[in-house]
Amino acid sequence: MPPSNSNRYPAGHVLYRRLQKDFPKVVRGEGCWLYDDAGKRYLDASSGALVTNLGHGNAVLAKAVGDQAARVGYVNGVAFTNDAVEELATELDALTADGLEKTLFCCNGGDAVEAALKIARQYWTDLGRPEKRKIVSLFPSYHGNTLLALSASGRPGYRKLLQDWLVPVCTVPAPYAYRCACRGEREDCPACSGTALEEVLLQEGPETVAAFIAEPVGGASTGASVPRAGYWKKIREICDRHEVLFIADEVMVGAGRTGTWSALEPYAVTPDFQIFGKGIAGGYAPLSAMVTSRRILDVIAEVSGAPLHNQTFSQFPISCAAGLATIRHLKAEGLIERCARMGEVLHRSLGELLDHPNVGDVRGRGLFAGVEFVADKDSREPFDSSLGMAETFALAAQSAGLVVWPNSGYTEQGNGDLVLIGPPFIITESEISELVELFRVALEMAINTVYDRIGGQRPI
Ligand SMILES: Cc1ncc(COP(=O)(O)O)c(C=O)c1O
Repeated sequence: MPPSNSNRYPAGHVLYRRLQKDFPKVVRGEGCWLYDDAGKRYLDASSGALVTNLGHGNAVLAKAVGDQAARVGYVNGVAFTNDAVEELATELDALTADGLEKTLFCCNGGDAVEAALKIARQYWTDLGRPEKRKIVSLFPSYHGNTLLALSASGRPGYRKLLQDWLVPVCTVPAPYAYRCACRGEREDCPACSGTALEEVLLQEGPETVAAFIAEPVGGASTGASVPRAGYWKKIREICDRHEVLFIADEVMVGAGRTGTWSALEPYAVTPDFQIFGKGIAGGYAPLSAMVTSRRILDVIAEVSGAPLHNQTFSQFPISCAAGLATIRHLKAEGLIERCARMGEVLHRSLGELLDHPNVGDVRGRGLFAGVEFVADKDSREPFDSSLGMAETFALAAQSAGLVVWPNSGYTEQGNGDLVLIGPPFIITESEISELVELFRVALEMAINTVYDRIGGQRPI
């Protein structure tokens, strides 16, 4: 039994998100650093769960949230509108591609994903084509934990227990060059070029497919894999030819994280729905956004009259005020440009880790990087899943004073270990050097633990 003052299950009354570990209590955050109640400091190299893009303790954001709460905290979004939601939607209209101009605000990424999927289906039904109702997504991928978003997620481990509650979704291999049979080298590889989508649409019958949903740059499930230059143009062209709506899930990679507001921007492609979450309000309030077009909404306005997705906290003024202040702060301080610039420093520095025998790949864009661990570098053989390499690394990192975002079990075989690095956009060059030093310390600790577990020899 843990001591009564420990933050660990079953002590206290919090249902902790892990039931077998200690939770240091954070009492303060400042810039890229978190401080716990024992005085220990942590470099937040993943902005929590890729959320705190502006850093911790930002007084401008704190004031914006407080001011909105003092003015009016909550209004029912079915009965009223408010300044914060109006102004934030106008900002998003300006930031997104032409044609994307109407935004529904929710609280979590999964909510906004569900909204887009439901509205896609509603659009086809209102158009008199109710048979267009199937969803196609990538494998591996992640779109959220609620049941429709989980249905669309190519993550067998997360789905296993709930399989019979999920709706069927067709999958297409993700553009994940490091784990593709072609190793990203074949020009005509269906997965890496995007033509695999057309194969699946033809198998399913495009007249039955409502939407294709994908992450423009891979999130946790492919560890910041960046698709080829022509990939999204090919996807857009296939979707158009087969009348399938394209939903870009930018919950993790949007809002500036990859060095441009939208991760699709460098591909010059406009989706039918674009979803933002996580960093869109810098972690100062829960917020997600689903942006779409008049083309879609005019049909719904004329037939069923309202989108089929409503929640108590849709268009929540305090969250929208946090989103508005985040966007204005990003612009005023040039932080997205800074993210692109510091991203180059980050990737150069993390690239040095490739000299380690268990670091298989380092990839990504902007201040968004995936580091994939392998048992054998030449064959790219992952660690056995029972060794829990990614989690072991994240725990070692935390004890060394570094916060990363681990992910495991994303391959077809249920193994694979990577960590995401995504520090606040305000990180400095010296903090990046410190990050890489701490990473090396944690890697030594984790590798020793993992090889101790199997009593095996470390590769030299
Ligand atoms: C790409 C993507 N979509 C959706 C989600 C779900 O977001 P949330 O956890 O806020 O519901 C996530 C969460 O990690 C994500 O990475």
